[in-house]
Amino acid sequence: MKINYENNIQDLFIGLDEKVCDSNGDCIDGINFDNAATTPPLKSSIKYIEELSKNYASIGRGTGQKAEITTNLYKESKNFLMKFFNIKSIEKYVVIYVNNSTEGINKLANTLKTKEDEIVLTSRMEHHSNDLPWRKRGKVDYIEVDKKGRLKLEELEEKLKVHCGKIKYVSLTGASNVTGYINDIHFIAKIVHKYNAKLIVDGAQLVPHKKVNISGDSDDEQIDFLVFSSHKIYSPFGVGVIIGLKEDFINSDPDYLGGGTVELVLDNKINFLLPPDKNEAGTPNFIGVMSLINSLKFIDNIGYDYIEEHEKQLLQHTIEGFKRIPNIINYGDTENISDRLGIATFNINNMYHHDVANILAKKKGISVRHGWFCAHPYCRRLMNVGEDEAKEFLENPAKKMLGMVRVSFALYNSIGEVDLFLNVLEDISLRKIK
Ligand code: ALA
Repeated sequence: MKINYENNIQDLFIGLDEKVCDSNGDCIDGINFDNAATTPPLKSSIKYIEELSKNYASIGRGTGQKAEITTNLYKESKNFLMKFFNIKSIEKYVVIYVNNSTEGINKLANTLKTKEDEIVLTSRMEHHSNDLPWRKRGKVDYIEVDKKGRLKLEELEEKLKVHCGKIKYVSLTGASNVTGYINDIHFIAKIVHKYNAKLIVDGAQLVPHKKVNISGDSDDEQIDFLVFSSHKIYSPFGVGVIIGLKEDFINSDPDYLGGGTVELVLDNKINFLLPPDKNEAGTPNFIGVMSLINSLKFIDNIGYDYIEEHEKQLLQHTIEGFKRIPNIINYGDTENISDRLGIATFNINNMYHHDVANILAKKKGISVRHGWFCAHPYCRRLMNVGEDEAKEFLENPAKKMLGMVRVSFALYNSIGEVDLFLNVLEDISLRKIK
């Protein structure tokens, strides 16, 4: 049975009704428009965790009744995820828990085998977490973005051709944390597979807002690796997930070694277990995992159709509002928003991004993020700034780090909240609030 979410959705989360202190010390209502960074927990997750804690014990290591219950739930969580992401050949995939998407991509970069002359292809749209781990691993090439910030997708095939089979992995974001652009991951997968490469999707922004079908509609559309975090899905308890092709983990050494990873250790020899065990060293975060599963069940109950439609309306309303406010500079396409998640990034002409964000929060309780959002190469391109200008602040204390302001929506945000925000923004833009 579907829950009735239309009227009371905010009541399902912890802390949304918690007052915040403004710069005068007064307690005011808060609005959270920083959901691309992290999201508040569900009340039902806290209840569920409390319930599960009664039987909490070690996972895969004990013979006690509680250890059995916990171990079974942990194993079942992986079956749930396989089903949630529509994996048809479950024997081909493995679910590995980590702490967050950043750790997940680092794990892939440290684990997936490569030869010295191989290249990983990523893009200039990426969060640093899907760029820097590949730089550390070896050779990297990048797909550029166009003036509006979309991927220049024609470069994908060009690069795969030019590098003549040297690209084994292509790692791209499912959706941008700066502009909210959604990449067509199945179209991309088809091209990647045509050149015998494999596709890694950074799903940190995508999974909370859009259904991901790992198997796609045909074999060549499959996503080979998906990585995402629970803290952006109403479950801030430190879990990230890698769902990926088992063979690639079988054929490589794990990055972390330790408890739970081995079949036998001799004085001078280690026999590893199969994935996922060999890739999950140490006692897993059972509570975090189960809370994530609760969140995904909640999302299933609400339905991605509703979430997408609702968040699109919030974005549409915001962008229309921006167009009526003087001095707003928008980033990304504001005419065709059909491929954007509920994320809008802007500046106010002649105002420092930090000051705008600070006024929103300290005067009106509206939380946003400002800066370059851990995606410096992308933001620099969106702002059309050269590298020399970008780095000026490093040497010149009079210069400030460039940046923008971002609002990012979640399913519990409302049009009323957007209206409040737009009114405040107009006042800031007209310097009525300082
Ligand atoms: N990647 C997160 C963000 O964009 C933290 O804010």
